[in-house]
Amino acid sequence: MHARSLDEILKASPVVPVMVIEQLADAVPLAQALVAGGIRVLEITLRSEAALAAMAAIMGEVPEAIVGAGTVTSVEQLAQVEALGVEFALSPGLTTGLLRAAQDMGLHYIPAIATASDIMLGMEHGYQRFKLFPASVLGAGQLLQAFNGPFPDVRFCPTGGLTMDNFAEVLALPNVQCVGGSWLTPKALVQRKDWPAITRLAQQTVTAQLAQQTV
Ligand code: 3PG
Repeated sequence: MHARSLDEILKASPVVPVMVIEQLADAVPLAQALVAGGIRVLEITLRSEAALAAMAAIMGEVPEAIVGAGTVTSVEQLAQVEALGVEFALSPGLTTGLLRAAQDMGLHYIPAIATASDIMLGMEHGYQRFKLFPASVLGAGQLLQAFNGPFPDVRFCPTGGLTMDNFAEVLALPNVQCVGGSWLTPKALVQRKDWPAITRLAQQTVTAQLAQQTV
């Protein structure tokens, strides 16, 4: 049983940091720094050796965090993160194997799309929420406006190339439910373990997000 629906998760923080955690020791303080700044929904990518242990550590020690696994590219990885107990998972693309496996597992899953055919394949399997990746390369603004015609009920989470300066205008698009990116966890700040600076970045992001909502 899901404690929260996918929509509830994404409403909790519509801006999702895409995190690559190289050092396990950084996982908990980094998550705490983001949570302290008002960002609770975290995508921990499977791009580092420490990723699975980092997810487990955050789930164990930072109860306010809502942990999702990112960069899931195989059914084996999906099964691994599901067994770990993550609340949701995301992929940079979609395959029928992953679409089916996530449903069989009853795991909240956000596959990514880049074309109308990808959306149609996802819809055939019952999905209505997709990541759009890589957003800046695809031209998220114009592309999502175009997708809103044939797919008015579909909602997107663009990621890839978004920054503090441009995420709010992408979040303002009518069919965008959340956005993600690595700008919230810059490598240099993580290497210096400058957690207060990460909290400030999270606060700035939340402020920009709220300002956009009130426009
Ligand atoms: C992702 O997996 O969503 C992206 O790699 C994040 O892209 P960014 O590093 O350009 O924010």
